[in-house]
Amino acid sequence: MEASFTSQQTYIDEFSSVEYLKTYYDPGHGKLSEWMQFVLQILHGVFSSGGVGGDTIIDIGTGPTIYQLLSACEVFNNIIVSDFLEQNLAELKKWLKKEPGKFDWTSCVKSVCELEGNRISCEEKAEKLRSKVKEVLRCDVLKKNPLDPRTLPPVDCVMSCLCLEVSCKDMDSFYNALTNLKVLIKPGGHLLLLSMLNGSYYSVGDKYFSSLPITKEGLEKALRDAGYDILETKFTAQNYQSEVDIFSADTHYFVHARKPV
Ligand SMILES: C[S@@+](CC[C@H](N)C(=O)[O-])C[C@H]1O[C@@H](n2cnc3c(N)ncnc32)[C@H](O)[C@@H]1O
Repeated sequence: MEASFTSQQTYIDEFSSVEYLKTYYDPGHGKLSEWMQFVLQILHGVFSSGGVGGDTIIDIGTGPTIYQLLSACEVFNNIIVSDFLEQNLAELKKWLKKEPGKFDWTSCVKSVCELEGNRISCEEKAEKLRSKVKEVLRCDVLKKNPLDPRTLPPVDCVMSCLCLEVSCKDMDSFYNALTNLKVLIKPGGHLLLLSMLNGSYYSVGDKYFSSLPITKEGLEKALRDAGYDILETKFTAQNYQSEVDIFSADTHYFVHARKPV
């Protein structure tokens, strides 16, 4: 199954935040997906080790999800979330404001609390994250200033999960997106990317969206060409099997890179 490149207009018209959450983040039988376990463990390690911290982190392409922010809220005072789609920003705001119909992230919050040694309750953890999210902004990684029309002072850390491959048509575009993100980062600041290799599509409800099938070598070359120093990478084969063909990809990846001083 191959999906031709999904246009921004198709995203606007056809991406359902609710279906996306239901498909990928609903913890059937209380078990978190392989992807979520990969991300939660990596980010717990990154943020508890003391190597990445500061005042402000921007999450790019946040989508309707908050799982990726639960460890970050322990080390940053300000979290800025951002996405291309208004429907995703609306879904995020629903959770932040505890509105009726908000997605239930309890299993995921519980899992991060366990990783952190159950120092605080799940309710306190969720409140802590809510209190740290200071802005919910529109973004487009294809723009020279991804947060246009806002111009923010460069921040300590930019993070992005499962976003660049779905936004970019080819490797030139991927390189440009990495270059655009660099503008948001302070010299010496961090870039954390978590996503999948060799995927070409994913589904949301009955719609299919394209993904750039990036390789390990292509990823590392694009980062170096865009002027980042690569500090750490992790690649883990993913074994997800489903009766329904909901996405293609064979490896989870994590990159910790740095904008040179
Ligand atoms: C697969 S979802 C990932 C969402 C979330 N980060 C996660 O980990 O589940 C891809 C996200 O990229 C966003 N996106 C698509 N094109 C984009 C663009 N040009 N700039 C920024 N975000 C974009 C979509 O709106 C969607 O929220």
